[in-house]
Amino acid sequence: MTILADRKRIAIVTGGSRGLGRSTVVNLAKRGVNSIFTYNFSYTEAQAVATQADDVGAKAIPLRLDVGAIDSFEAFVADVRDALSKMEAERFDYLVNNAGISNHTAFAKVTEAELDELFKVNFKGPFFLTQKLLPLIADGGQIVNISSGVTRFVNPDSIAYATLKGAVEVFTRYLAHDLGPRNINVNTVAPGAVQTDFSGGVVRDNPVVNELVSKMTALGRPGVPEDLGQMIASLLSDANHWVNAQRIEVSGGMRL
Ligand SMILES: NC(=O)c1ccc[n+]([C@@H]2O[C@H](COP(=O)([O-])OP(=O)(O)OC[C@H]3O[C@@H](n4cnc5c(N)ncnc54)[C@H](OP(=O)(O)O)[C@@H]3O)[C@@H](O)[C@H]2O)c1
Repeated sequence: MTILADRKRIAIVTGGSRGLGRSTVVNLAKRGVNSIFTYNFSYTEAQAVATQADDVGAKAIPLRLDVGAIDSFEAFVADVRDALSKMEAERFDYLVNNAGISNHTAFAKVTEAELDELFKVNFKGPFFLTQKLLPLIADGGQIVNISSGVTRFVNPDSIAYATLKGAVEVFTRYLAHDLGPRNINVNTVAPGAVQTDFSGGVVRDNPVVNELVSKMTALGRPGVPEDLGQMIASLLSDANHWVNAQRIEVSGGMRL
Protein backbone atom coordinates (compact mmCIF):
# COMPACT_ATOMS: atom_id res chain seq x y z
CA MET A 1 0.00 0.00 0.00
CA THR A 2 1.32 3.42 -0.88
CA ILE A 3 0.32 6.40 1.17
CA LEU A 4 0.52 9.17 -1.42
CA ALA A 5 -1.82 12.15 -1.25
CA ASP A 6 -5.03 12.03 -3.24
CA ARG A 7 -4.01 14.60 -5.87
CA LYS A 8 -2.36 14.60 -9.26
CA ARG A 9 1.08 12.99 -8.87
CA ILE A 10 4.18 15.15 -9.32
CA ALA A 11 7.61 14.05 -10.55
CA ILE A 12 10.97 15.78 -10.54
CA VAL A 13 13.08 14.78 -13.55
CA THR A 14 16.62 16.09 -13.98
CA GLY A 15 17.80 16.65 -17.55
CA GLY A 16 14.25 16.83 -18.89
CA SER A 17 15.12 19.15 -21.76
CA ARG A 18 16.46 16.46 -24.11
CA GLY A 19 16.83 12.71 -24.68
CA LEU A 20 15.50 10.20 -22.19
CA GLY A 21 14.54 12.86 -19.65
CA ARG A 22 12.38 14.71 -22.14
CA SER A 23 10.63 11.51 -23.16
CA THR A 24 10.08 10.65 -19.48
CA VAL A 25 8.42 14.03 -18.78
CA VAL A 26 6.19 13.71 -21.86
CA ASN A 27 5.20 10.13 -21.06
CA LEU A 28 4.48 11.03 -17.44
CA ALA A 29 2.27 13.85 -18.74
CA LYS A 30 0.37 11.36 -20.93
CA ARG A 31 -0.25 9.33 -17.76
CA GLY A 32 -1.58 12.38 -15.96
CA VAL A 33 1.55 13.05 -13.89
CA ASN A 34 2.76 16.65 -13.54
CA SER A 35 6.49 17.35 -13.57
CA ILE A 36 9.06 19.78 -12.38
CA PHE A 37 11.97 19.14 -14.68
CA THR A 38 15.42 20.63 -15.09
CA TYR A 39 17.44 21.93 -17.97
CA ASN A 40 20.97 23.29 -17.87
CA PHE A 41 21.70 24.95 -21.23
CA SER A 42 18.69 23.92 -23.37
CA TYR A 43 16.19 26.64 -22.40
CA THR A 44 14.30 26.60 -25.72
CA GLU A 45 14.01 22.80 -25.73
CA ALA A 46 12.76 22.94 -22.13
CA GLN A 47 9.99 25.37 -23.10
CA ALA A 48 8.96 22.97 -25.89
CA VAL A 49 8.74 20.08 -23.40
CA ALA A 50 6.49 22.20 -21.15
CA THR A 51 4.24 22.88 -24.16
CA GLN A 52 4.12 19.18 -25.08
CA ALA A 53 2.97 18.34 -21.54
CA ASP A 54 0.43 21.14 -21.62
CA ASP A 55 -0.96 19.72 -24.89
CA VAL A 56 -1.93 16.52 -23.09
CA GLY A 57 -3.35 18.32 -20.08
CA ALA A 58 -0.46 18.10 -17.61
CA LYS A 59 1.79 20.73 -16.06
CA ALA A 60 5.55 20.52 -16.59
CA ILE A 61 7.52 23.35 -15.00
CA PRO A 62 11.13 23.81 -16.19
CA LEU A 63 13.77 24.93 -13.68
CA ARG A 64 17.40 25.65 -14.43
CA LEU A 65 19.90 23.42 -12.63
CA ASP A 66 23.52 22.46 -13.07
CA VAL A 67 23.60 19.06 -11.37
CA GLY A 68 27.32 19.50 -10.78
CA ALA A 69 26.87 22.76 -8.85
CA ILE A 70 26.20 21.37 -5.39
CA ASP A 71 26.28 24.82 -3.76
CA SER A 72 23.27 25.87 -5.88
CA PHE A 73 21.03 23.11 -4.51
CA GLU A 74 19.73 25.20 -1.59
CA ALA A 75 18.41 27.79 -4.05
CA PHE A 76 17.10 25.01 -6.32
CA VAL A 77 15.08 23.53 -3.44
CA ALA A 78 13.52 26.96 -2.90
CA ASP A 79 12.61 27.03 -6.63
CA VAL A 80 11.08 23.56 -6.26
CA ARG A 81 8.96 24.76 -3.32
CA ASP A 82 7.67 27.65 -5.47
CA ALA A 83 6.91 25.29 -8.37
CA LEU A 84 5.08 22.93 -6.02
CA SER A 85 2.95 25.76 -4.69
CA LYS A 86 1.95 26.56 -8.30
CA MET A 87 0.66 22.98 -8.42
CA GLU A 88 -1.03 23.47 -5.03
CA ALA A 89 1.17 20.81 -3.43
CA GLU A 90 3.74 20.72 -0.65
CA ARG A 91 5.44 17.47 -1.67
CA PHE A 92 6.34 15.65 -4.87
CA ASP A 93 6.01 11.90 -5.44
CA TYR A 94 8.68 10.73 -7.88
CA LEU A 95 12.33 11.66 -8.42
CA VAL A 96 14.22 10.67 -11.57
CA ASN A 97 17.96 11.36 -11.39
CA ASN A 98 18.56 11.31 -15.13
CA ALA A 99 20.88 14.20 -16.13
CA GLY A 100 24.32 12.97 -17.04
CA ILE A 101 27.38 13.32 -19.24
CA SER A 102 29.44 10.77 -21.13
CA ASN A 103 33.17 10.12 -21.38
CA HIS A 104 34.99 7.88 -23.81
CA THR A 105 38.64 8.40 -22.94
CA ALA A 106 40.91 5.37 -22.81
CA PHE A 107 42.07 4.45 -19.29
CA ALA A 108 45.67 5.53 -19.94
CA LYS A 109 44.53 9.00 -20.97
CA VAL A 110 41.76 9.83 -18.47
CA THR A 111 42.71 13.07 -16.71
CA GLU A 112 41.96 14.03 -13.14
CA ALA A 113 39.81 16.90 -14.44
CA GLU A 114 37.72 14.51 -16.57
CA LEU A 115 37.17 12.11 -13.69
CA ASP A 116 36.29 14.97 -11.32
CA GLU A 117 33.73 16.34 -13.80
CA LEU A 118 32.12 12.92 -14.25
CA PHE A 119 32.08 12.37 -10.49
CA LYS A 120 30.45 15.76 -9.93
CA VAL A 121 27.70 15.49 -12.55
CA ASN A 122 26.99 11.74 -12.64
CA PHE A 123 27.40 10.83 -8.98
CA LYS A 124 27.98 13.62 -6.44
CA GLY A 125 25.16 15.71 -7.95
CA PRO A 126 22.45 13.01 -7.78
CA PHE A 127 23.71 11.98 -4.31
CA PHE A 128 23.37 15.43 -2.73
CA LEU A 129 20.36 16.50 -4.79
CA THR A 130 18.47 13.48 -3.47
CA GLN A 131 19.63 14.32 0.07
CA LYS A 132 18.48 17.95 -0.27
CA LEU A 133 15.10 16.94 -1.76
CA LEU A 134 14.36 14.29 0.87
CA PRO A 135 12.13 16.52 3.03
CA LEU A 136 10.01 17.34 -0.03
CA ILE A 137 9.46 13.82 -1.37
CA ALA A 138 6.25 12.27 -0.14
CA ASP A 139 6.35 9.13 2.01
CA GLY A 140 5.25 6.30 -0.30
CA GLY A 141 7.05 7.93 -3.25
CA GLN A 142 9.52 6.47 -5.71
CA ILE A 143 13.05 7.28 -6.90
CA VAL A 144 14.69 6.14 -10.14
CA ASN A 145 18.40 6.59 -10.76
CA ILE A 146 19.62 6.29 -14.34
CA SER A 147 22.71 4.14 -14.80
CA SER A 148 23.84 2.34 -17.97
CA GLY A 149 24.18 -1.08 -19.58
CA VAL A 150 27.95 -0.59 -19.45
CA THR A 151 28.05 -1.47 -15.74
CA ARG A 152 27.20 -5.06 -16.74
CA PHE A 153 29.16 -5.41 -19.99
CA VAL A 154 32.42 -3.78 -20.98
CA ASN A 155 32.25 -1.05 -23.59
CA PRO A 156 35.60 0.14 -24.99
CA ASP A 157 36.94 3.39 -23.54
CA SER A 158 34.16 3.83 -21.02
CA ILE A 159 36.03 2.97 -17.82
CA ALA A 160 35.56 6.28 -16.00
CA TYR A 161 31.91 6.69 -17.03
CA ALA A 162 30.98 3.07 -16.28
CA THR A 163 32.73 3.04 -12.90
CA LEU A 164 30.76 6.08 -11.71
CA LYS A 165 27.50 4.62 -13.04
CA GLY A 166 28.41 1.57 -10.96
CA ALA A 167 28.51 3.88 -7.95
CA VAL A 168 25.01 5.10 -8.84
CA GLU A 169 23.79 1.48 -8.66
CA VAL A 170 25.30 0.91 -5.22
CA PHE A 171 23.82 4.24 -4.11
CA THR A 172 20.41 2.99 -5.29
CA ARG A 173 20.61 -0.14 -3.15
CA TYR A 174 21.67 1.73 -0.04
CA LEU A 175 19.06 4.42 -0.59
CA ALA A 176 16.35 1.77 -0.95
CA HIS A 177 17.46 0.38 2.40
CA ASP A 178 17.62 3.75 4.11
CA LEU A 179 14.30 5.07 2.75
CA GLY A 180 12.34 1.86 3.35
CA PRO A 181 10.97 3.16 6.65
CA ARG A 182 9.38 6.03 4.69
CA ASN A 183 7.87 3.54 2.22
CA ILE A 184 9.90 5.09 -0.62
CA ASN A 185 11.20 2.63 -3.21
CA VAL A 186 14.40 3.22 -5.17
CA ASN A 187 15.44 1.50 -8.39
CA THR A 188 18.09 1.81 -11.07
CA VAL A 189 17.13 1.93 -14.73
CA ALA A 190 20.09 0.98 -16.90
CA PRO A 191 19.54 1.91 -20.57
CA GLY A 192 21.43 0.27 -23.40
CA ALA A 193 22.58 2.41 -26.33
CA VAL A 194 19.91 5.01 -27.13
CA GLN A 195 19.65 7.40 -30.06
CA THR A 196 20.01 10.76 -28.33
CA ASP A 197 22.54 13.62 -28.37
CA PHE A 198 24.59 11.66 -25.79
CA SER A 199 28.26 11.01 -26.70
CA GLY A 200 27.91 13.48 -29.57
CA GLY A 201 24.86 11.61 -30.91
CA VAL A 202 27.05 8.71 -32.06
CA VAL A 203 24.41 5.97 -31.62
CA ARG A 204 21.94 7.98 -33.70
CA ASP A 205 24.19 9.59 -36.31
CA ASN A 206 27.03 7.15 -36.98
CA PRO A 207 25.79 4.33 -39.28
CA VAL A 208 28.68 2.03 -38.28
CA VAL A 209 27.89 2.34 -34.56
CA ASN A 210 24.19 2.07 -35.30
CA GLU A 211 24.71 -1.23 -37.12
CA LEU A 212 27.09 -2.55 -34.47
CA VAL A 213 24.55 -1.85 -31.73
CA SER A 214 21.74 -3.40 -33.80
CA LYS A 215 23.79 -6.60 -34.23
CA MET A 216 24.50 -6.93 -30.52
CA THR A 217 20.89 -6.29 -29.49
CA ALA A 218 18.37 -9.15 -29.37
CA LEU A 219 15.56 -6.91 -30.62
CA GLY A 220 17.78 -5.82 -33.51
CA ARG A 221 18.04 -2.04 -33.21
CA PRO A 222 19.35 0.68 -30.90
CA GLY A 223 16.94 2.18 -28.37
CA VAL A 224 15.06 5.40 -29.01
CA PRO A 225 14.15 7.88 -26.25
CA GLU A 226 10.53 6.70 -26.28
CA ASP A 227 11.64 3.14 -25.31
CA LEU A 228 13.04 4.56 -22.09
CA GLY A 229 10.57 7.37 -21.44
CA GLN A 230 7.58 5.01 -21.63
CA MET A 231 9.26 2.46 -19.39
CA ILE A 232 10.30 4.95 -16.70
CA ALA A 233 6.89 6.63 -16.71
CA SER A 234 5.16 3.26 -16.30
CA LEU A 235 7.59 2.16 -13.56
CA LEU A 236 6.51 5.23 -11.60
CA SER A 237 3.11 3.94 -10.56
CA ASP A 238 1.51 2.26 -7.55
CA ALA A 239 1.44 -1.02 -9.51
CA ASN A 240 5.23 -1.16 -9.27
CA HIS A 241 5.68 -0.05 -5.70
CA TRP A 242 6.90 -3.48 -4.56
CA VAL A 243 9.75 -3.42 -7.09
CA ASN A 244 12.55 -2.13 -4.89
CA ALA A 245 16.35 -1.87 -4.93
CA GLN A 246 16.52 -3.38 -8.42
CA ARG A 247 18.71 -2.69 -11.42
CA ILE A 248 16.40 -2.91 -14.42
CA GLU A 249 18.19 -3.00 -17.74
CA VAL A 250 16.18 -1.46 -20.58
CA SER A 251 18.20 -2.24 -23.68
CA GLY A 252 16.19 -4.50 -25.98
CA GLY A 253 18.53 -7.27 -24.81
CA MET A 254 21.98 -5.82 -25.51
CA ARG A 255 25.05 -8.07 -25.32
CA LEU A 256 23.21 -11.02 -23.80
N1 LIG B 1 21.92 7.74 -24.65
C1 LIG B 1 22.47 6.62 -24.27
O1 LIG B 1 22.92 5.78 -25.09
C2 LIG B 1 22.53 6.27 -22.81
C3 LIG B 1 22.87 4.96 -22.45
C4 LIG B 1 22.95 4.61 -21.12
C5 LIG B 1 22.69 5.56 -20.16
N2 LIG B 1 22.37 6.84 -20.51
C6 LIG B 1 22.12 7.80 -19.42
O2 LIG B 1 20.86 8.39 -19.61
C7 LIG B 1 20.85 9.71 -19.07
C8 LIG B 1 20.30 10.68 -20.09
O3 LIG B 1 21.06 10.57 -21.27
P1 LIG B 1 20.55 11.11 -22.68
O4 LIG B 1 20.99 10.12 -23.68
O5 LIG B 1 19.14 11.52 -22.60
O6 LIG B 1 21.49 12.40 -22.80
P2 LIG B 1 21.34 13.74 -23.64
O7 LIG B 1 20.42 13.57 -24.79
O8 LIG B 1 22.74 14.21 -23.88
O9 LIG B 1 20.63 14.74 -22.60
C9 LIG B 1 21.29 15.04 -21.41
C10 LIG B 1 20.37 15.79 -20.49
O10 LIG B 1 21.07 16.02 -19.26
C11 LIG B 1 21.19 17.40 -19.01
N3 LIG B 1 22.50 17.70 -18.43
C12 LIG B 1 23.73 17.39 -18.90
N4 LIG B 1 24.68 17.87 -18.06
C13 LIG B 1 24.02 18.49 -17.05
C14 LIG B 1 24.44 19.18 -15.90
N5 LIG B 1 25.74 19.38 -15.59
N6 LIG B 1 23.48 19.68 -15.08
C15 LIG B 1 22.19 19.53 -15.38
N7 LIG B 1 21.72 18.90 -16.46
C16 LIG B 1 22.64 18.39 -17.29
C17 LIG B 1 21.00 18.09 -20.36
O11 LIG B 1 20.51 19.40 -20.12
P3 LIG B 1 20.71 20.64 -21.15
O12 LIG B 1 20.58 20.13 -22.52
O13 LIG B 1 19.60 21.58 -20.77
O14 LIG B 1 22.06 21.24 -20.87
C18 LIG B 1 20.00 17.16 -21.04
O15 LIG B 1 18.69 17.47 -20.63
C19 LIG B 1 22.30 9.98 -18.62
O16 LIG B 1 22.41 9.79 -17.24
C20 LIG B 1 23.10 8.94 -19.37
O17 LIG B 1 24.28 8.60 -18.67
C21 LIG B 1 22.28 7.21 -21.82
